[in-house]
Amino acid sequence: MNVLFTPQMIGNVELKNRFVHSATYEGMADHDGKVTKELIKRYRLLAQGDVGLIIPGFMYVHPLGRAYKAPIGIYSNDMIEGLKSLVKEVHESGSKIFFQLNHAGQQTSPADLGQMPLGASNAVRDPINFFKPRQMNEIEIKETIDAYAEAAGRAVKAGADGIQLHCAHGYLINQFLSPFFNRRQDKWGGSSENRFRFLKQVIHAIQATVPDNFALTVKLNTNDFTPRPGITPELAVEYAGMLKELGVDMIEVSCGSSVFSYMNMCRGEVPVKEMVQSMPLWKKPVAWLMIQSLKGKYDHDEGYNLTAARAIKPVIGDVPLGLVGGMRTLDKMSRVITSKDADLISMCRPFIREPFIIKKFRENKKDKVACVSCNRCLAAVPNGFPTRCYHKSFPKRI
Ligand SMILES: Cc1cc2nc3c(=O)[nH]c(=O)nc-3n(C[C@H](O)[C@H](O)[C@H](O)COP(=O)(O)O)c2cc1C
Repeated sequence: MNVLFTPQMIGNVELKNRFVHSATYEGMADHDGKVTKELIKRYRLLAQGDVGLIIPGFMYVHPLGRAYKAPIGIYSNDMIEGLKSLVKEVHESGSKIFFQLNHAGQQTSPADLGQMPLGASNAVRDPINFFKPRQMNEIEIKETIDAYAEAAGRAVKAGADGIQLHCAHGYLINQFLSPFFNRRQDKWGGSSENRFRFLKQVIHAIQATVPDNFALTVKLNTNDFTPRPGITPELAVEYAGMLKELGVDMIEVSCGSSVFSYMNMCRGEVPVKEMVQSMPLWKKPVAWLMIQSLKGKYDHDEGYNLTAARAIKPVIGDVPLGLVGGMRTLDKMSRVITSKDADLISMCRPFIREPFIIKKFRENKKDKVACVSCNRCLAAVPNGFPTRCYHKSFPKRI
């Protein structure tokens, strides 16, 4: 049997195969962040498609941690009922489900929040909306750590098998971990140990809240690719060692940040026209030039986080490692697992186009995905469109 279809443990959770649906913002929740029928349908199909582990799009743990038009919320007990139905749907087809807990920190906009976003520091100006966030004070830090723990408690009540802390792509935990965003000189910054403190306290607070058999995992940036060094590969190795010490059950390795280097996060074509479509007219010319200048620099490269995985794996030993980023052929996926560079293969964009791709792999009907990494699904996010495969046509408005 192909190694990809052998089971894998994550903590006490057994997956039926090595495939993970990497967290994918859907833009399908309702105004308050509650689960909708559209969301349930999306995850029903993926579970029917045999994905071993499903991680839905990031769920915001606090109203101030919200980003984009229609993210899923997990910041209040009102959310639990809807989340339960999502879990039930996935479990019915034998897949496992982890919730990705997130706080956007400064990676949102004053317009979306109705107030100035909070950040680890106030040093870095947002290059799209031109604001500098307000640095979180001690009370806000404590409140946010508690919000993560309470959200994890809600994930347990909803029946999820585990959680994934979003420590990648430039969101709040990534901001604390990164010397580019985090310029603090108090106990939350100034050294790698101090920058790690926020994440460490979040993990401790969650561990005190959830039962032992509940999986606690992390999506970690291995390179932020910010204008000045943030998390570098060396720093990522150090943080991975600290995460192992804390007893996390799995690390998924990624890179890039949604604002400063989305093309590192999602290598492939640069959809210039689609990216600027909904921007106000006065922003368009400069944004167009900036995005156009990225063309040809981020062409698709299968398994672009593999080098990072190879650096992290020896440090974390038997903690399972998930590899995301451009995995597209069955052959490459099998080789990555057989060579033990990673234990799990994560994908995002391919599932948007083909929710049944794993089933087709298993039935030997396909050996590569149809996704061509045109990145129009990514461009849909800032436009406020729900996540779908827009390869053939991109809407003017929904
Ligand atoms: C439309 C879209 C939404 C995404 N939403 C999330 C998210 O909510 N959380 C996250 O960690 N990564 C998110 N990502 C990044 C993916 O999980 C993944 O790391 C990246 O797309 C590379 O994997 P791929 O080549 O298989 O697409 C998103 C990517 C896309 C294209």
